[in-house]
Amino acid sequence: MAYLNDNYLKLRAGYLFPEIARRVKAFCEANPEPAKRLIRCGIGDVTEPLPEAVRVAMHKAVDELGSRESFRGYGPEQGYDFLRHTIAENDYRAHGIDVADDEIFVSDGSKCDCGNILDILGGDNRIAVMDPVYPVYVDTNVMAGHTGEADASGAYGGLLYLPCTEANGFVADVPSERADVVYLCFPNNPTGSVATRAQLEAWVAYALKNRSLLLFDAAYEAYISEPGIPHSIYEIPGARECAIEFRSFSKNGGFTGTRCAFTVVPKTLMAQTKSGEFHALHPLWNRRMSTKFNGVSYVVQRGAEALYSPEGKAQVADLITHYMGNAAVLRKAATDAGLNVWGGVNAPYLWVRTPGGATSWEMFDRMLTEANVVITPGSGFGSAGEGYFRISAFNSRAAVEEVAVRLARL
Ligand code: MLT
Repeated sequence: MAYLNDNYLKLRAGYLFPEIARRVKAFCEANPEPAKRLIRCGIGDVTEPLPEAVRVAMHKAVDELGSRESFRGYGPEQGYDFLRHTIAENDYRAHGIDVADDEIFVSDGSKCDCGNILDILGGDNRIAVMDPVYPVYVDTNVMAGHTGEADASGAYGGLLYLPCTEANGFVADVPSERADVVYLCFPNNPTGSVATRAQLEAWVAYALKNRSLLLFDAAYEAYISEPGIPHSIYEIPGARECAIEFRSFSKNGGFTGTRCAFTVVPKTLMAQTKSGEFHALHPLWNRRMSTKFNGVSYVVQRGAEALYSPEGKAQVADLITHYMGNAAVLRKAATDAGLNVWGGVNAPYLWVRTPGGATSWEMFDRMLTEANVVITPGSGFGSAGEGYFRISAFNSRAAVEEVAVRLARL
């Protein structure tokens, strides 16, 4: 008899997005006519085509694979040098941030990396997460056995939840207690909030003081529109000693289906053994990637590289302008409908208080059945998300304008 990983049995219900998909499917099967006018503003999945620069680069790469002279088999597990160099140069060194090419690890997604990073961390860490929170940070820790059982509110024993509320602008304050590992996500999924430089400085100071590790998810960095908001944790002095940064091409280059992302692990970042010896995390992550991953395909990495060409940068800027134009339409519509709205300025997500004290899932059902619009219930992101819902701005302009009309009628 094989034993299973009991930790999976602690997981509450389904993963949020499959659970939404299940409910939407059931609604569509039972209501074929309304189903035809369904607009999906739930999962943050891009809708616009891949930038032309990417497609051209990928076609060329496919052709290279079609001849013996330029064919490539296994690539480096950490990513091809051309892409690691382009990322480090454009996303970091061009902004005065010290990141070496070989501190970049190319992968198939930030979601995967956020979960996989636990492979190189010990089992006894006290983990802190924001509440509401991107569910992957929590569920992967549950799977790894780093938590106790969930209570009635869905909060897992052993995790330190840091409430993000209207009062703190949905940016958690640095706690008075110590955490060994802290997940930060800015621009934030789901609330769309951003952290100021002073707030990130406070987190870095906290991490250095407590020898904590910050896991900084910057997947939505390209959506920052306001000046002065840090795009990278490494803009903060000291972060190379306490932070890993996750970035993705999903939301800027439209790669949710194409799959490419990267993680920065500075060589100066240390963690300790139980006996108190300090070791760098970089060789551990390198070892993990070499053993469990065979790299992102050459064609996809050439596509990702093209996002940094002058044409690629212009096409990414157009995509961001499009989605943020959607966010502005949705923000206005929700505000005009008398709703309280946050986000949608530096992030493609709007965080909205449910009207009349409705629960998040009640609002989900109401939006689905009355407006035929799919949103994400805030409580799916944690108990502090109860009483809110998230609207994703990833859609066509026509669909978003139709959502605005339906919000006005609701
Ligand atoms: C979301 O809707 O929160 C995102 O699409 C999830 C993800 O990027 O994995």
